[in-house]
Amino acid sequence: MKKIVISTGGGDAPGLNAVIYAVVHAGSRMGWEVYGSKSGYSGFLDIDEMIRLTPRDVDGIYATGGTILGSTNKGNPFSRPVENLVGEIQMVDTSDKIISNFKRMKFDCHIAIGGDGSLEIANRFAEKGMPVIGVPKTIDNDLEETNRTFGFDTAVSTATDALDKLHSTAKSHDRVMVVEVMGRDSGWIALYSGVSGGADAILIPEIPFDIEKVCDKIADNDLRDKNYSIVVVAEGAKTVDGMEFNKGKGELGREEVVLGGVGEWVASEIRKRTDKDTRSLVLGHIQRGGSPTTFDRLLALRFGTAAVRMVEEGTFGHMVALKNSKMEAVPIAQAIRHRKKVDLECDKVSTARDIGICLGD
Ligand code: F6P
Repeated sequence: MKKIVISTGGGDAPGLNAVIYAVVHAGSRMGWEVYGSKSGYSGFLDIDEMIRLTPRDVDGIYATGGTILGSTNKGNPFSRPVENLVGEIQMVDTSDKIISNFKRMKFDCHIAIGGDGSLEIANRFAEKGMPVIGVPKTIDNDLEETNRTFGFDTAVSTATDALDKLHSTAKSHDRVMVVEVMGRDSGWIALYSGVSGGADAILIPEIPFDIEKVCDKIADNDLRDKNYSIVVVAEGAKTVDGMEFNKGKGELGREEVVLGGVGEWVASEIRKRTDKDTRSLVLGHIQRGGSPTTFDRLLALRFGTAAVRMVEEGTFGHMVALKNSKMEAVPIAQAIRHRKKVDLECDKVSTARDIGICLGD
């Protein structure tokens, strides 16, 4: 008989509920008690935020977006904003309290579902003695040591669908449409959706772009009687002169800057330099919403059950990973060392170049 707790941290991703579903079902079949900590680590700090999860509580959730536990990307328990008695905000390390509550609640293991930020926190808890197992989540697909993170396939499919819809309106109005997609400092979403969605140019953080090259591609389209163009820009894309685009730090407790603005900049430069009607749009959080695709559902269910098997085996401090179609355990520390970038030698990049897509270089 074991008692395990699940948490979901960082930006949500389609498939989170499928992991929860799998852990609850597989854990319950072992005769274990499964709990969920609401909103990241809140349940470890406040017992009212810790909920018991039974198969009945998770009925049908594998097909739904979001997370029934809630999530946050401003709740690092090692540096949490707390208001003191005189109303000032202080950053407080709550990790010892979390460890002692974890022991007091007699948990055997914590299954932390998260991206690089949340898994880094989980790893710090593992170093403090908490038995932790990580599950790789993020639409950005930027975690090392796993071929895929869940959420990515759904985000790509949403972005591709948006690009498909933009073609007809761009064509009807002789326009250039610039679409900014998510992905932080990795260009996976932009590359996969751009290639699949018929983009003329795809700008990714891994290839600093020259705006003149993008304009050349648009002019070339005109010469070939293609009166419209679609440009996909990853939110973390940078110019060859080192221009980066962000909206500052964001909310208190959030550790990363809020990216954004590159799509609008690219659109205005194209408008100035080509005189073409140009519009930009930011796909934004639509990419994180909705029901997970079949691929993401299956991957999330596989990750969840593999995590339960790892609890049974005691493979703590490890993350479940997809490696060549198999579930494997890799040290969390290894998975968070770097962010996984697009390999410029990969065949998706060659495919883009071979069909004439401009990559801004
Ligand atoms: O990491 C996932 C992600 O969706 C990124 O692609 C994006 O930059 C960020 O989260 C947005 O975060 P927020 O939900 O705080 O706006």
